[in-house]
Amino acid sequence: MTDIKELLLSRIRDVADYPEPGVLFKDITPLLADPAAFTALTDALAELTVRHGATKIVGLEARGFILGAPAAVRAGVGFIPVRKAGKLPGATLGQAYDLEYGSAEIEVHAEDLSVGDRVMVIDDVLATGGTAEASLQLIRRAGAQVAGVAVLMELSFLPGRQRLETALAGAPLEAL
Ligand code: PRP
Repeated sequence: MTDIKELLLSRIRDVADYPEPGVLFKDITPLLADPAAFTALTDALAELTVRHGATKIVGLEARGFILGAPAAVRAGVGFIPVRKAGKLPGATLGQAYDLEYGSAEIEVHAEDLSVGDRVMVIDDVLATGGTAEASLQLIRRAGAQVAGVAVLMELSFLPGRQRLETALAGAPLEAL
């Protein structure tokens, strides 16, 4: 295992039966509280952003904001929040996606993404891939290009990577 992977894993806390029985929650708050680990994560996400030629970072609410914003500052690119529906005050583009039970919707300010932008999506976890897939659809509908998706953790026992294949269209999915 690489040093950074070891460091990051050592700062992620497993919480059993949260938020409901049978779920093992991956709590990143110990990582955020450790400046060495948070800096290493920020640097790694910024490096991926630069390496894949992104001109903007989209962060997915809520933990994607915590990871994506410092990475954007470090990479020298703009940060664009993709929020749960109803939270952004301006004109928005929205994208619905399926959950296990029901559906959800995310939104972005329409003026934040346009033709010529190349976007890296950042989030903490890739689980079923529904949120990330919807964000990629939003980015393409806005006319922007997808540079890739970068997450701290990929839950590889779930088919998130396969679900993203079409929406990524050859762009990389990076899991630290
Ligand atoms: C979690 C996580 C990802 C998403 C991953 O966020 O932070 O954004 O779910 O799941 P998926 O791959 O199955 O779509 P959540 O929706 O719990 O929102 P929060 O960060 O605002 O709590």
